[in-house]
Amino acid sequence: MFEAQRIDTTDKAAFYDELTTQLEALLTGESDPIANAANTSALLYQMMPELNWAGFYLMRNGELVLGPFQGKPACVRIPVGKGVCGAAVERRASVLVEDVHAFPGHIACDSASRSELVVPLIGRDGVIGVIDLDSPSVARFDAADQAGIERIAAIYLAACGEGARLAKAS
Ligand code: SME
Repeated sequence: MFEAQRIDTTDKAAFYDELTTQLEALLTGESDPIANAANTSALLYQMMPELNWAGFYLMRNGELVLGPFQGKPACVRIPVGKGVCGAAVERRASVLVEDVHAFPGHIACDSASRSELVVPLIGRDGVIGVIDLDSPSVARFDAADQAGIERIAAIYLAACGEGARLAKAS
């Protein structure tokens, strides 16, 4: 049985090295996208300090639909281009929001959320969803978190058989 090991969070580079190692162990041998999204969100929520929401939105018929997550119940459907999640899909790039009150169009699922990081999942045929992290602290996420969660996204995509694009680039 996989048991998540507590990680020291003082050094973010070392933290994400350890977190990615644990995620690889957790997803090894499983390709189901829902099961892997469920376990990835559980690991992120358990390991990362100062989060109030961690989860996935998955592309379904051209819009984002709520996937596996940890935290309070959330809005179910987000059109491409709307909110922080929809912006990440439209831009095909991560969106880091230090203060959600200053992001026009931010969709407030939990009023406690003050900062947010959304990383798109870019599969072989385009964006298949996003990883969304919310924090009750302003400016909880920085460039090191973005780079770390982009590594988490790559591991998720590879486990689900969506890693061809990434494999070609390396
Ligand atoms: N805040 C997001 C919506 C999803 S919830 O945070 C879980 C957004 O603006 O897209």
